[in-house]
Amino acid sequence: MKEKEEKFKLVIPTEKYKRKAIKYIKEHNRHKSEINGSGFLYMYLKDYKGWLQRLDTERKKEATATEVPTETFFLVRLNDDKIIGMVNIRTKTNEKVKNSFGNIGYGIRPKEREKGYNKINLYLALVECQKFGLKQVIISCKKENVASAKTMIALGAKYDREVFNSSQNAIVEFYRIDVDYAVEAYKSTYEKYIG
Ligand SMILES: CC(C)(COP(=O)(O)OP(=O)(O)OC[C@H]1O[C@@H](n2cnc3c(N)ncnc32)[C@H](O)[C@@H]1OP(=O)(O)O)[C@@H](O)C(=O)NCCC(=O)NCCS
Repeated sequence: MKEKEEKFKLVIPTEKYKRKAIKYIKEHNRHKSEINGSGFLYMYLKDYKGWLQRLDTERKKEATATEVPTETFFLVRLNDDKIIGMVNIRTKTNEKVKNSFGNIGYGIRPKEREKGYNKINLYLALVECQKFGLKQVIISCKKENVASAKTMIALGAKYDREVFNSSQNAIVEFYRIDVDYAVEAYKSTYEKYIG
């Protein structure tokens, strides 16, 4: 379990985190782990600057029927300034968001899993969602991804439905979180970890 005195923050990626960000992705590759919430950082290991530019473009996108703006963060443990996880927020909702990837994608680096960190990551993401004016978020995950579903449920998510997704060849579950309710309800649990 995480130590009580550990503190975390969501940080907008900058040049300063280049080396740490690349190490974060390489740890996933070594562990042959799925990468989620990274805003496609894994495609830019040789062009970090290009990735930062991409994030800026994504952030400034107009919401349309097919596209929405997104914001990507590092979950940083302030005690050692280590990137522990990442989270990607689609800051507006359209039908595509509702029916495919949802508003939030997240991940924790392989060596830091099962310590409760993704619950902190999601709590912090919900606080950001409030700032973006999102009242309800949809999160989807493969049915087999128990850790992801449990993360959401721990933050008050309600099961909505499941569908077979042929491109993922998997059953995908959809959950809903009432953002204001969750932030209020879980504040006392998570605020002590926020730096
Ligand atoms: C899913 C993921 C983000 C979970 O991160 P984590 O930091 O290990 O999660 P936490 O420690 O905060 O645990 C969250 C919940 O899942 C449970 N859990 C964690 N790992 C688990 C596992 N391997 N099997 C079953 N339950 C698990 C925890 O017990 C906790 O539930 P609880 O509150 O009811 O006890 C991480 O495994 C990951 O990055 N996976 C690859 C990317 C991915 O799948 N992202 C999500 C896509 S939808």
